[in-house]
Amino acid sequence: MIYLTDVTIITGDAIREGTVGLDHDRIAGIWADGDVPTGLAAPDAATIPLKGMWLFAGGIDAHVHFREPGLTDKADFASESRAALLGGVTSVIDMPNTNPPTTSRERLEEKLRMASGRSWVHYGFHIGATNDNLDDILPCIQDGSAAGIKVFMGSSTGNMLVDRDETLERIFRVTDAEILVHCEDETLVRQGLEQARERYGENIPFSAHPSIRSREACTRSTEKALEMALRHGTRLHVLHVTTAEEIRMISAAKEKNPFLLAETSANYLWLCDKDYVRLGGKLKCNPAVKTEADRSALRKALADGSIDTIGSDHAPHREEEKGRPYLSCPSGMPSIQQSLPVLLTVAAEADIPLTRIARAFSEKTAKVFGIRDRGRIAPGYKADLVVIDPTAKADTSHPAYKCGWTPYRDETLTGAVRMVFLDGKMVVRDGRILSERPEGQPLQYDRR
Ligand code: DOR
Ligand code: ZN
Repeated sequence: MIYLTDVTIITGDAIREGTVGLDHDRIAGIWADGDVPTGLAAPDAATIPLKGMWLFAGGIDAHVHFREPGLTDKADFASESRAALLGGVTSVIDMPNTNPPTTSRERLEEKLRMASGRSWVHYGFHIGATNDNLDDILPCIQDGSAAGIKVFMGSSTGNMLVDRDETLERIFRVTDAEILVHCEDETLVRQGLEQARERYGENIPFSAHPSIRSREACTRSTEKALEMALRHGTRLHVLHVTTAEEIRMISAAKEKNPFLLAETSANYLWLCDKDYVRLGGKLKCNPAVKTEADRSALRKALADGSIDTIGSDHAPHREEEKGRPYLSCPSGMPSIQQSLPVLLTVAAEADIPLTRIARAFSEKTAKVFGIRDRGRIAPGYKADLVVIDPTAKADTSHPAYKCGWTPYRDETLTGAVRMVFLDGKMVVRDGRILSERPEGQPLQYDRR
């Protein structure tokens, strides 16, 4: 047994001081402060005193782009899962816009084989919808090979647009799978780009990105998705929500369909359109980072529970690619290693209860995908845990990403990852990985 003593245990329901006991790979018990477990005196008991530290369940990040197969000049499963672990994320679910895209059982199985023995964190995969593959991919959800179905209702990195209304209707009729949507209206995005070309020629400034990929493009597409999800009762995740309007629309729709879910990323909680001047192409991502008022609305929504989950949307590209002019600069930024420090800093700045962070960072995500035995600090659960020093600054100078850069390099983020436990074993200490080889396991899903 290992006892983590005198630690501040932060879960979705409560914050309390106490001791957490780990028995091999699982959490054996939680004892309140002063209530000393009898096993503590046993000869084989080890204690790790953690006074002043915060303990969270390890992050469960259901929105990452680890780029394998096909895009390994940007990132690969080994490099990015290592960065995830160093950032306190212990499980990831990878998106299908790889090359080739993950749009069939065969490709999903290839990806599962690819990650086996190479992932530093536990892992799973979403499968991608196309205009004609629903019959092939649905069984992958039903038999637990894939976590959810990703639908690009607007095109982004990778060419996976689902633009036929009859296909969308069929997908939304699937009410026993998690359907994850990227919402940006394609026609409005095209129009926005045309207008920018007319105005600026080939030299489009990065600050024009939120008018090209406009808030109207987001709201129109989200409105369409919500309308269909209400008609069919879809278990819909609206990914990377960026505007105040979408928060309002999703919250209203949730009253009629309790299976709706809003995700955002730490990027949208931290950055805003004023940062385009400073960060240029590095800030280019889809959907675009919007205004300060949107950022405030997102922070408030995280505090009141209207934002359900946080996905990092870790989307690495090479630094050289991100230094190119607007039209040839790819969208997306790497962030998974800084996601938790950003959330903790935002929580302190905006008075967001830490219980909300625990919920959005792991508990709710684990629950909606039915991730077996992970995502909570509770007896019987797997001991995937992260210890935070709430007074220390996170070191953003040398991110572990293959691409080597982070938009957070010059930020002061308070809340440093001190230790990470994976299946009960300490695998990270003070920015160093202790284990010799990757030990991530495939996630299991308990389907309804
Ligand atoms: O900015 C983005 N980058 N948005 C996406 O939807 C995809 C992602 C990527 O894979 O690069
Ligand atoms: Zn994404």
